[in-house]
Amino acid sequence: MDRMKGRVCVVTGGARGIGRGIVETLAREGAERVWALDMNDAEFPALEKEFPAVRGAVVNVTDAAAVEAFVARARSESGRVDVLVNNAGITRDALIQKMGEDDWDAVINVNLKGVFLMTKFVAPLMMENGSGAIVSISSVVGLDGNIGQSNYAATKGGVVSMTKGWAKEFARKGAKVRVNAVSPGYTRTPMIESVPDKVLEPIIARTPLGRLAEIRDIANAVLFLCSDEAAFITGQTLRVDGGLVL
Ligand SMILES: NC(=O)c1ccc[n+]([C@@H]2O[C@H](COP(=O)([O-])OP(=O)(O)OC[C@H]3O[C@@H](n4cnc5c(N)ncnc54)[C@H](O)[C@@H]3O)[C@@H](O)[C@H]2O)c1
Repeated sequence: MDRMKGRVCVVTGGARGIGRGIVETLAREGAERVWALDMNDAEFPALEKEFPAVRGAVVNVTDAAAVEAFVARARSESGRVDVLVNNAGITRDALIQKMGEDDWDAVINVNLKGVFLMTKFVAPLMMENGSGAIVSISSVVGLDGNIGQSNYAATKGGVVSMTKGWAKEFARKGAKVRVNAVSPGYTRTPMIESVPDKVLEPIIARTPLGRLAEIRDIANAVLFLCSDEAAFITGQTLRVDGGLVL
């Protein structure tokens, strides 16, 4: 219950779904502060009431000025950031011939540029402190591809390769900042509410462990990679997909 004791954590897309599960898990594990970043503040009062360590902040991860201003606030209020979870992500699915440039740009902006911006502004604080853990949420789609998800797959594959590069970049000059990714299979969140059962059922049938992921499955993997138990793990992508692809 105290694997995050004394840590200052930042989770993007923290208001709902997997991000919210990660915020709650880090708070339950004794974090000193968990910043939940999201597009609007509707969910923040409930989260802050249930978990006193949580603070909501309205930050669009695609907005460089907003990200920079948030990191300055976190630095002045907490002095440091120990854990960054790049979770915010969106989908705009379409077969390639029907995919608009706006669908392409929107997904690239949030899922790739958002991860870049958050890491660009948070990693220097971690480097200054000499330690830290960054975990970004990729997807099985980023590793294996999927029909109708060229934009999403490009971003989630990009997360895997950025993770490897950053693992090398942030373990220099005496710093030990670890960078990893988690690659969830289909997870029961609002994001997949619109996916029809006829799509999900064959996926469940192909999954050796016989179900979709629950939010806690992903949050527990993130917790592990953020914790000292993963002190010698960096540059890795951990699949949490019930064995979907083996
Ligand atoms: N649900 C799945 O099956 C699944 C599978 C693999 C990977 N993922 C990934 O997990 C992550 C979380 O997915 P989810 O299912 O919880 O999604 P979700 O749609 O339920 O929640 C995403 C959250 O991110 C926030 N967000 C979106 N754009 C943002 C922005 N520009 N700035 C700040 N916040 C923003 C949303 O407001 C929302 O609260 C995403 O990166 C997603 O790609 C999800």
